[in-house]
Amino acid sequence: PTADLDAVRALVAQARRPVVLTGAGMSAESGIPTFRDTQTGLWERYSPEQLATEDAFLADPDLVWSWYRWRTRMVRARRPNPGHDAVAHWQRAVPGLEVVTQNVDDLHERAGARVLAHLHGSLFEHRCAECGAPADVDPGAPADAEAAGSEADLEAMLREAPPTCPACGTGRIRPGVVWFGEMLPQEPWERTYEALERCDLALVVGTSGLVQPAASLPFVALGAGAAVVEVNPVETELSGAVTHALRGSAGAVLPALVAGV
Ligand code: NAD
Ligand code: APR
Repeated sequence: PTADLDAVRALVAQARRPVVLTGAGMSAESGIPTFRDTQTGLWERYSPEQLATEDAFLADPDLVWSWYRWRTRMVRARRPNPGHDAVAHWQRAVPGLEVVTQNVDDLHERAGARVLAHLHGSLFEHRCAECGAPADVDPGAPADAEAAGSEADLEAMLREAPPTCPACGTGRIRPGVVWFGEMLPQEPWERTYEALERCDLALVVGTSGLVQPAASLPFVALGAGAAVVEVNPVETELSGAVTHALRGSAGAVLPALVAGV
């Protein structure tokens, strides 16, 4: 059900325990490619759906490690966009607001928001793939803005191999992200579930709603009787279920929604 901006602005003005659920579209206007929007070039050759798996890491650890290092360099060269700024502004005005993201970048935090849960982990956390010990890994230099995400930058990184775990001495260090087929981290998941059970508004921003269990979270808010607003330029799997759909980009719609709070 397509809604008008003023109707949703009224919901935003009243909300005391809102939850903002974000996906890759949240960071698209910062210059970070999404996963499933039409992808060409490099994203076609090195696709997240093929590399974001344990099987890929076992088959070619250097490729998967380098690809995450390259994405980390890209993220560090990017900046929060007006959508991230709007969420941070809204949370300052309404401290009960919770941010839950599927994104592994740190752009919400760099905009000044407190994030309740990174459901799919973070590019900035690492652990041993064998013993599970957490590991400190220097994120390296950010790419310069021009090179970030480029083929030349990836080629330069492809020579990197994952470090060996200092704790067990044999395992390889892997990024602290959730790969396809893996469980989500349990505590962030439980915090998120509880926040949605007591929320009075959920804003679902920039996700295709195709990956479970994250895609089930808007239904928890609906079950709690909350209004659920989708912000996305196109229809998604979730569009038929939400109470309000706003067609537009995060960087344009979110600032307009929270301007008055
Ligand atoms: P999935 O829906 O199979 O499962 C998501 C993961 O979340 C599973 O590991 C599941 O155990 C876990 N999970 C479910 N409920 C949970 C809960 N309450 N708390 C914590 N964890 C919970 O999704 P997937 O395998 O990640 O794949 C998502 C999509 O991507 C699918 O459309 C799939 O076809 C596609 N895909 C999958 C793979 C793969 O290797 N599995 C590879 C490429 C693409
Ligand atoms: N503003 C808002 N939404 C946007 C924008 C924008 N500027 N640009 C694109 N979108 C929308 C697209 O229309 C699409 O619905 O963002 C969505 C991105 O969908 P996906 O690429 O599927 O990303 P996401 O839903 O976050 O993927 C979930 O899949 O591979 C995994 O772990 C990865 O966390 C990721 C998960």
